[in-house]
Amino acid sequence: SARIRIRSALAGEGLGNEIMIKGWVRTIRAGKEVAFLALNDGSCFANLQVVAEPRLANFADICAIGTGAAVAVRGILVESPASGQRYEIHAEEVEVIGAADESYPLQKKRHTFEYLRSIAHLRPRSNTFGAVFRVRSSVAQAVHRFFAERGFLYVHTPIITTSDCEGAGEMFRVTTLDPAAPPLLEGEVDFSRDFFAAQAGLTVSGQLEGELFAQAFSDIYTFGPTFRAENSNTPRHAAEFWMIEPEMAFADLMADAALAEEFFRYLCRHVLDACGEDMAFFNDHIDKGLIARVEQVANSSFAIMEYGEAIERLTKATVKFEYPVEWGLDLQTEHERYLTEQVVGGPVFVINYPKYIKAFYMRMNDDDKTVAAMDLLVPKVGEIIGGSQREERLHVLEGRMAEVGVNPEGLWWYLDSRRWGSTPHAGFGLGFERLIMNLTGMENIRDVIPFPRTPRHAEF
Ligand code: 4AD
Ligand code: MG
Repeated sequence: SARIRIRSALAGEGLGNEIMIKGWVRTIRAGKEVAFLALNDGSCFANLQVVAEPRLANFADICAIGTGAAVAVRGILVESPASGQRYEIHAEEVEVIGAADESYPLQKKRHTFEYLRSIAHLRPRSNTFGAVFRVRSSVAQAVHRFFAERGFLYVHTPIITTSDCEGAGEMFRVTTLDPAAPPLLEGEVDFSRDFFAAQAGLTVSGQLEGELFAQAFSDIYTFGPTFRAENSNTPRHAAEFWMIEPEMAFADLMADAALAEEFFRYLCRHVLDACGEDMAFFNDHIDKGLIARVEQVANSSFAIMEYGEAIERLTKATVKFEYPVEWGLDLQTEHERYLTEQVVGGPVFVINYPKYIKAFYMRMNDDDKTVAAMDLLVPKVGEIIGGSQREERLHVLEGRMAEVGVNPEGLWWYLDSRRWGSTPHAGFGLGFERLIMNLTGMENIRDVIPFPRTPRHAEF
């Protein structure tokens, strides 16, 4: 009999027939008369109950199988007389493929997320992380479907680049430099030590290269790993994260916000429709009210608020903030959460920020003080999307670069895109981990990425 996945078996596929299942033992209860194994193969949240009887030749060995062992089970899929599951498999044969003894760290009991982080190589085999990484995979596929349905070109922007898009000095340097080697002489090139000859780093955003492709393919998006040397030990920052960055030619800030809203609502709808079993787990055990909140976001239209109004609202707030609020200062997470949770009660775009706190490429507004920026703020997370209309006027862009001290020589290719066939264009970046946090209710970014990279942690 051909092997089928547990998800299919639990849907009744092969009912009454002999099937083959392979997976890992989550729990085992063995007595003289019968042994019950709960088997999981990652295809769904639920385990499949295996019933083994003493008539099996290796019954004694079956009773001694440890939690965490990999097994293959051949048997008949039947309706389960017990409550709690619809189907179970009556074993004809149970073969241990990979044994596990009592030193297996995921014995059946509640483990803290902190402990599970220290065994990131094993935590995918736990209930919570099984659910997290199934949702993550499903939502990633929905991201591609959303853009494919709308004719966006998928472009792979470089990981190694010399452009610090955000200008925040958070790039990791890429070099083969041996710290013990003597310094190079003027004009000397040693490829074994300085491979790229220019100061190359890991990308902080694919936007600048994405803009070049938007000036050829109209609508494009990137979806890839992004790196930031932010020494911020917060539950929302990772040194390596994934970002989705669409870019549209012939588009302004309002078109940008419209796309962001449609996209975000699409992903909320997707996770409810496609990941029901995992979402029910998160709703019951991680974040009560999650499903209602995601449902509400999927059905609502998002508010838009001027930065100036946001500052006014925050100034009038009765709660005491840790960080100061004043026109010209950036919003901190506490401010963002207050706006989306207390003032609006749902997602809100804050638009038209002061130019001093935003990157050089954002389009200058007519007031000469603000730029056409937008941040999408959502409950519990705060900023989840950052975007803008881009400065398409060459002389204005050059003026801004001079003003903030961005060297035009390193960006000659970017400036070229404003020299020939420049168009108004706009885009945004959605942090994929923050999205997954928002959709699952998980509260630490380290718990929604398979192998988190944070300060002093890149081990496995
Ligand atoms: O606001 P940011 O810095 O915007 C950009 O990088 C633009 N170039 C995007 C664009 O317009 N194409 O980052 C965008 C989003 C943030 O809103 C946040 O969700 C996420 O990326 N992000 C991080 N996520 C995890 N860890 C970090 N260190 C992050 N930094 C940003
Ligand atoms: Mg931002």
